[in-house]
Amino acid sequence: MAKTFLEVAVQTALEAGEILAEEFARPVDISYKGDVDLVTQADRRSEQAIVARLGCEFPEHAILAEEGSGHESKSRYRWYVDPLDGTTNFAHGYPCFAVSIGLAEDDRMIAAVVHNPIGKELFAAERGKGAALNGRRIRVSQIDRLSRSLLVTGFPTHKRTQNPNIYYYWDFTLQSHGVRRDGSAALDLAAVAAGRFEGFWEFGLKPWDTAAGVLLVEEAGGRVTDFDGQPYPLGGPVLLASNGLVHAEMQKVAAEVVKKKPLAGG
Ligand code: IPD
Ligand code: CA
Ligand code: CA
Repeated sequence: MAKTFLEVAVQTALEAGEILAEEFARPVDISYKGDVDLVTQADRRSEQAIVARLGCEFPEHAILAEEGSGHESKSRYRWYVDPLDGTTNFAHGYPCFAVSIGLAEDDRMIAAVVHNPIGKELFAAERGKGAALNGRRIRVSQIDRLSRSLLVTGFPTHKRTQNPNIYYYWDFTLQSHGVRRDGSAALDLAAVAAGRFEGFWEFGLKPWDTAAGVLLVEEAGGRVTDFDGQPYPLGGPVLLASNGLVHAEMQKVAAEVVKKKPLAGG
């Protein structure tokens, strides 16, 4: 029987995860894409393996991969690949990073895998079939008040000075149990899906950072929009993901930040 898209994505993520784990065990070889934007041999090797495997299984599909080795096509199917989400953590020996692979059909996400090879956690989702962690069903948390919530956010690796997030970080920290900053947007979204965090927001994420994670959150019963509650298009300026129950409260805090600090509008 032919493998499903999700089965291929899982197999591909596990192979890439082995490469990352192997590279993590040796001295890291860093180069720079910008002042603080790192890329390592691990990013490149992982992407090469993923693009080769997907290209072999589905030669007609398009692949958008962060390090640029994907290809365009007129296919209805497009893979979004982040071969190593959390490169800065990886380069510093902090074991919080993942492979992220998502598949869209006609611009709608239908399959997702986020795999942390060090923590040995594999999050997967298929549209309409729920989300799972290592094969067990996961759901977003049931906490319904921001004041009892644990949140997570991220700061971009480039153009930090132009990023308004510090203002939001301040207000959300004062109004919740706290805000973590873990350095992997894919794992941040997976953690919202697994009920570990009630909410996540970040500015300026790229399609490969969020494609898989967004489907995980939605299939785990959560909600993903922008700060105005409008649908979040992949690569949109701001993403707000939550368990759904604290979504409106988070939007309200964001709106208040903009009123106090107009420049925080982005
Ligand atoms: C980064 C991570 C980080 C986020 C950055 C991303 P990378 O991806 O997801 O959490 O804050 O905006 O660029 O560069 O490690 O693949
Ligand atoms: Ca990334
Ligand atoms: Ca990356």
